[in-house]
Amino acid sequence: MKVFKTEQAEAKKRGLARTIDLVHYGIIKKKPALITNKYRIFALDSATGVSYMTSKSPQYISGHLRLLGKVNGGYPYKFKDLIEELFGSCPSSSEELEVCSGEVVAKSNLVTVDINSDKNPSYVLNGQDLPQDWNDRFDRWHCDPPYSEHAAKKMYGTSMPSVTKLLTEGARVTKSGGLLFLLLGFKNMQWHPKLVTRIGWLAITVVPNQEIRALHCYIKN
Ligand SMILES: C[S@@+](CC[C@H](N)C(=O)[O-])C[C@H]1O[C@@H](n2cnc3c(N)ncnc32)[C@H](O)[C@@H]1O
Repeated sequence: MKVFKTEQAEAKKRGLARTIDLVHYGIIKKKPALITNKYRIFALDSATGVSYMTSKSPQYISGHLRLLGKVNGGYPYKFKDLIEELFGSCPSSSEELEVCSGEVVAKSNLVTVDINSDKNPSYVLNGQDLPQDWNDRFDRWHCDPPYSEHAAKKMYGTSMPSVTKLLTEGARVTKSGGLLFLLLGFKNMQWHPKLVTRIGWLAITVVPNQEIRALHCYIKN
């Protein structure tokens, strides 16, 4: 990952930021099922569907996947498997942070944060305002905020957090070279803090009710 950072800085200086290849730098671990002149296509086992990179934009992964939904607003089944299939799993020696954790259960190297104490997170905290001494601490940051003001109030008794503030805090507490995954409703959020680079956007159709979610992927510079 350090190599990526150095190479990226060099490429940016030379106006070549678009040429960073996520596969070449080991950020995407999945082997492509098909390579053509234009595409590298990744056929997922954990989800139905494909993701792809184009030869002109090897720094970015897109695609459309289908996953079976859960009834309680939790991550769809196999959502984390899908991330691990594409990006590899976080080594057990490193730490992951799950913000707006809901039913996600903390483990030895997985720290959870939720504003509601009844979710039993590792820390009852507002994800928009994480502890100052968590700077550059985590190898991965995951966040699944409520999808609307209405859902926030009705399902969790909270107000809708600012996604901008959640991501800004995520960028601060993630290590250089670490990855950030933000699951939102159907939107393609263009803004991101300067501390991170966007490396992917995946549309997820949640079956059987066909709601749509958007997985935003970033790397900390
Ligand atoms: C969509 S649910 C997350 C579901 C989770 N991914 C799962 O699989 O169970 C959203 C969660 O965000 C929490 N939440 C809402 N506002 C928050 C905030 N400002 N900071 C931290 N957690 C918040 C809610 O309590 C709720 O548990």
